[in-house]
Amino acid sequence: MNLLEIIDLKTHFPTSNGLVKAVDTIDMSISEQETFGLIGETGCGKSVLGHSIIRLLQSDTVMKGKIIYKGKNLLEISEAEMRNIRGEEIAMILQNPTTSLNPVITVGEQIAEAIRLHQRLNKKDAKQKAIEMLEAVRIPSPSQRANEYPHEFSGGMKQRVMIAMGLACDPALVIADEPTKGLDVTIKIQIVELMKEVTAQKAMLLITHDLGVASEMCDRIALMYAGELVEYASVIEIFENPLHPYTIGFLDSLPGRGLVPIPGMSPSLIDLPDGCRFHPRCSHVMEICRQKHPGMTEMKDGHFVRCFHA
Ligand SMILES: Nc1ncnc2c1ncn2[C@@H]1O[C@H](COP(=O)(O)OP(=O)(O)OP(=O)(O)O)[C@@H](O)[C@H]1O
Ligand code: SF4
Ligand SMILES: [Mg+2]
Repeated sequence: MNLLEIIDLKTHFPTSNGLVKAVDTIDMSISEQETFGLIGETGCGKSVLGHSIIRLLQSDTVMKGKIIYKGKNLLEISEAEMRNIRGEEIAMILQNPTTSLNPVITVGEQIAEAIRLHQRLNKKDAKQKAIEMLEAVRIPSPSQRANEYPHEFSGGMKQRVMIAMGLACDPALVIADEPTKGLDVTIKIQIVELMKEVTAQKAMLLITHDLGVASEMCDRIALMYAGELVEYASVIEIFENPLHPYTIGFLDSLPGRGLVPIPGMSPSLIDLPDGCRFHPRCSHVMEICRQKHPGMTEMKDGHFVRCFHA
């Protein structure tokens, strides 16, 4: 059953240079307990899509379409209702623990505060719950570590704190934005193992550049390009039978697969190319690609592609 369904979503930012179409017509769904990976080059709109789901965007942002969570359109509910959903129902594990944690408040107090925002617990009980969360993310000596400040934690341990904070109110859906960014390989493997364990009963939108992490954790993977999804399918299908030239290029640019970068640059989100948004960079480009915008087509069971050539 779908926990989240996104229909025709647009998230546009008005700027002095024009409208930035960061998310432009996204349709996707995440079912209960599914981990859905979102992959794509820098600036293609992944974080904006994640922030759109919990409506954490500046006030002049133009949003259209529907984000249906447990049958409710999140774009139509009040800010007060949305505050209850954030953290308790849908939580975000942020991209950068160094800037997301407050340097002058102890780690235990920060997690306790996140808990007290949503649950009617007194300070003592919230602190106790924070210690339990630190234990759940395998931080040694959690009662002692709870009284320490973020700078006393290593990068990997800080990331564990971010995971503890995100999961503190037991959300059904977790949006994890680059949870392994900047971690060295050994720590990355530990964080992936931990996330798999603590989110096993939850649905997750996992935003990452790292296809290795995505293949370890995800049930399905979507490739995003210039504000839209261009392909999605099960992990096995994406790796064994990629169909979109962008997906194929992305896979070929990985270490171990030849490291061949996709030529050219991502288009401006203010001035998107006509037709297929990938056409200026595509080696299979045909006349129709310059004129018509390809729709998403199901090529086989659950494998969707936006390409005239596929
Ligand atoms: N508040 C804003 N106002 C104007 N443009 C914005 C705003 N927020 C994001 N953008 C633009 O939207 C586009 C998508 O940004 P986003 O942060 O979602 O990229 P991303 O795919 O997460 O990239 P990365 O992989 O580097 O994290 C970028 O071009 C960015 O500059
Ligand atoms: S629609 Fe055309 S330009 Fe776009 S990816 Fe497919 S072949 Fe390339
Ligand atoms: Mg991002």
